[in-house]
Amino acid sequence: MNYTLVDGKATAATIKAEIKQEVEEIVARGGKRPHLAAILVGHDGGSETYVKNKVLACEACGFESTLLRFEDDITEDELLACVTQLNENPDIDGFIVQLPLPRHINEQRVIEAIDYRKDVDGFHPINVGRMAIGLPCFISATPLGILTLLKRYNVPTRGKKCVILGRSNIVGKPMAQLMMQKQWGDSTVTVCHSRSETLVEECRKADILIAAIGQPGFVTADMVKEGAAVIDVGTTRVPDPTRKSGFRLSGDVRFDEVAPRCSFITPVPGGVGPMTICMLMLNTLSAAKKEFYK
Ligand code: GUN
Repeated sequence: MNYTLVDGKATAATIKAEIKQEVEEIVARGGKRPHLAAILVGHDGGSETYVKNKVLACEACGFESTLLRFEDDITEDELLACVTQLNENPDIDGFIVQLPLPRHINEQRVIEAIDYRKDVDGFHPINVGRMAIGLPCFISATPLGILTLLKRYNVPTRGKKCVILGRSNIVGKPMAQLMMQKQWGDSTVTVCHSRSETLVEECRKADILIAAIGQPGFVTADMVKEGAAVIDVGTTRVPDPTRKSGFRLSGDVRFDEVAPRCSFITPVPGGVGPMTICMLMLNTLSAAKKEFYK
């Protein structure tokens, strides 16, 4: 099959340009530039890269950004105090706490301390709950990025069978909710995970297969139906001595053998990853415009 490569990098660049244009119009009318803050704890390589790219995306969109860095030994109370300050700072429209956090900090407690009106990651239970019943809210960036790609590439989803691999709070669960909903995917949804006994059979029936399990090369050609749309959310760092960085990013899908069976497929890198950051920008713009919560 002649597949279409879903170019997340180019789509994200287009959307960031649209955001930048809207921001300049807001500023020209005397409005305030959207302002995103990010809290980064410790020195995890992946988190450092993500946060750096988020700051760069803010620049591309004409946003203000503030990076708040802390060492691994920050206490939970100190981190919660920082969250409270950001909640109360009227200049900050939205903020994120980059995950994962060190083990001595209760991640859920930190997420729940964020004012849901500034929770541009969409991780607060109020946003998760509102998303689940189809109310206006911040939708977490990776699922929103995938839905945007499906829409912009006119991938048929209504009434189709969508199989999601993975049940994380950040991707698998919200993805399943949204693909099921009438106003989003309107699909028939199956979620498979590490305990699923019929995982391969389910995958083979999927019109849309979304892989978000973080296991490099997990999805092989025999798991994919001819003509399926395959979305690869995996971004595992695997050692690669030929690279200057010493690693490369590996998706959950064996691209070379799977792509020829597909109607659409996302590459890694350059597929879902750039869209995730772009959707965070869109959520920050919504926060600045007070679109969901007055
Ligand atoms: N860690 C991995 N993905 C994300 C994300 O989307 N937001 C935050 N805050 N942390 C993450």
